Amino acid sequence: MDTENQSAEPHKEKTCGFVTYMVRETRTHHHQERNMKKTTIGFIGTGRISRALVAGLVRSSNYRITGYDRDPVVRESFCKTFAVAGMSSMQELAEQADTLILAVKPYQMEDVLQELQNGLRADHLLISVAAGITTEFIRSRSLPESRVIRVMPNTPSFVGEGMTALSAGKHAGEEDRKHAAAIFSAVGRVMFLDEKHMDAATAVSGSGPAYMFHIIDAMARGGAACGLDNDDAVLLSAQTMIGAAKLLLESGKQPADLIQEVTTPGGTTEAGLKQMVAHDIRQAMIDTVKAAAKRSSELKQ
Ligand SMILES: NC(=O)c1ccc[n+]([C@@H]2O[C@H](COP(=O)([O-])OP(=O)(O)OC[C@H]3O[C@@H](n4cnc5c(N)ncnc54)[C@H](OP(=O)(O)O)[C@@H]3O)[C@@H](O)[C@H]2O)c1
Repeated sequence: MDTENQSAEPHKEKTCGFVTYMVRETRTHHHQERNMKKTTIGFIGTGRISRALVAGLVRSSNYRITGYDRDPVVRESFCKTFAVAGMSSMQELAEQADTLILAVKPYQMEDVLQELQNGLRADHLLISVAAGITTEFIRSRSLPESRVIRVMPNTPSFVGEGMTALSAGKHAGEEDRKHAAAIFSAVGRVMFLDEKHMDAATAVSGSGPAYMFHIIDAMARGGAACGLDNDDAVLLSAQTMIGAAKLLLESGKQPADLIQEVTTPGGTTEAGLKQMVAHDIRQAMIDTVKAAAKRSSELKQ
């Protein structure tokens, strides 16, 4: 997943059950970061999404990373994989960290905030990745002035191509926004949105990878139906999706312009596109996103 991370040589200090971590700052492109104050990020829940994030974050020497998980096996594996600090309690984690990333399932958030009460300080920045949990839900179960940022990452974060939507709670300031954006930039792109748009972002970029897999699968089936080996068809289809998305973003053009550019009248692309129009694939995708957004808004009620 992260080759640079594997080559990082951690400096470890063992003290009764936990390890303090700092990436050895030998890489030249990190020299200018040396004088900056290091932020300590504490992960509460060290499961899948935390692992994806830390894989990106350990490339930067700006951060010290710590983690706590109630499942000791999950915590040990997290600490071992990334050579980061594992804390034996949430309180210990809160004591060490200035930024807390709440990375548990939405239904577990209430209990986590309850357990965190004792260790929480006014200077903690709370960042939640839990789908559907509002900044106000978290703030009202934290301290009156707690600064909260809610984020919706997606699974391409595992390969450094994530799209993360972020939304700042009422006490979070410009520095907090910049800090949260920098963290999630380690695994892809970031976009701040008004919190009322988080259901829509969940429906497009949060659930979106599954829709893209569906399209890749459908295109590959088409290729296989035309005689291609199945694996070859999947590769042709998947790389085409990566390339098309990259071309779109790098050209700064609209999708409709690029469609026009590749469609010769009477040619192969036009023949294919006619089928997409006949089956109204566009409307199907609009309905897909709307259904997911509706479900996202229902889940938090
Ligand atoms: N994975 C994704 O692609 C993705 C994308 C966008 C958003 N998210 C959001 O990210 C959050 C985490 O997802 P995930 O896939 O990383 O989940 P996960 O793999 O289940 O990791 C969560 C970890 O937190 C632990 N935990 C639960 N309650 C705890 C507590 N009170 N104290 C300490 N640790 C606790 C869990 O332990 P137990 O197993 O014992 O419960 C588990 O090991 C979810 O809210 C999800 O909505 C995930």
